[in-house]
Amino acid sequence: MKRIGILTGGGDAPGLNAVIRAAVKTAITSYGCEVLGIRDGYDGFLNEQGIIPLEMKDVSGILSRGGTILGAANRGNPYARKVMRNGREVTIDVSDEIVKGIQRLKMDALLVLGGDGTLRIAHEFYLKGAPVIGVPKTIDNDIGGTEVTFGFDTALNIATDAIDRLHTTAEAHHRVMVLELMGREAGFIALHAGVAGGADVILIPEIPFKFESVIAKIRQRVAHGSSFSILAVSEGAKPLGGTQVFSRGGDEIYVPRLGGISQVVGEYIEKQGFETRVTVLGHLQRGGTPTAFDRWLATRYGAAAVRLAARGGFDRMVALRGGQITDVALEEALAVPRRVDLNEDAVITARGMGISFGDE
Ligand code: F6P
Repeated sequence: MKRIGILTGGGDAPGLNAVIRAAVKTAITSYGCEVLGIRDGYDGFLNEQGIIPLEMKDVSGILSRGGTILGAANRGNPYARKVMRNGREVTIDVSDEIVKGIQRLKMDALLVLGGDGTLRIAHEFYLKGAPVIGVPKTIDNDIGGTEVTFGFDTALNIATDAIDRLHTTAEAHHRVMVLELMGREAGFIALHAGVAGGADVILIPEIPFKFESVIAKIRQRVAHGSSFSILAVSEGAKPLGGTQVFSRGGDEIYVPRLGGISQVVGEYIEKQGFETRVTVLGHLQRGGTPTAFDRWLATRYGAAAVRLAARGGFDRMVALRGGQITDVALEEALAVPRRVDLNEDAVITARGMGISFGDE
């Protein structure tokens, strides 16, 4: 193994730099291998300044830094790229150009740090001849084949801290506080932070909710002497028989942007006579210093990805199973997205303690 590349695709997640650092250090120290960084996801293969050498000095001091030193792009669908041709905007497929770019650089492996979209593209590029290896990244924790993605723990801690802070002001003002959390179609952030922060109601995409059940829980709390309530709401949550709420529609470049369900829920609650405030935590969940767990996981993933590359384990993704780092075929990891399992102990524990999911 003489030369490997690393790229970070999709939305950023805390721990990306820790993966890059571990991969560069392992590649140079253990294999005497050259490392190239690809800027702004797959886009880096399409422009001259898109490829940069990564040496030990380049990864010094980045372990605890959020974001990614390589930049990321989540409008990077290589099959539908908008470009100007003869003064007109047209959509073209640049996937072959990217694969040729990978091959031209004579990389023995390309480590792709990404969520499901970026990893799906990596798998397709493998079928076109690129030696890809995946590393599962996302705060949403929605990738199959692994127990956890890096970035999730940091988002969870930020969300839990937000719930803690809402608690004190909710109690002081006898209010209902609705906190909207990220996660797309997976409710892990709201579920875990809701339990860790002591939320009274948790609404997640996996359990469609009824407005009346949410109100019943708030009323029950008032009847038991608690004049405030906290709701942790996934951005992808939806009412039974209703639809998700989007702040922006999608097109061939962008996926639709979820957002606004907390406002809908908050307005309903207020109409029932409970003073309510809504907070959307947004990108605070993705920014800043990764937790120790995410640094530890990201470091193990980065080093394991290089070892996998040295073994020629292409079209595979490093994964955590039973606390051990292993690897799975990308196709297997992408076959079934990870969602909250309603029969697992997290949901059972929450229900058993009286937390409402708005469905009973
Ligand atoms: O997938 C990570 C994530 O933060 C989701 O939780 C959220 O829906 C989305 O990305 C936001 O994307 P953007 O950064 O493009 O607004």
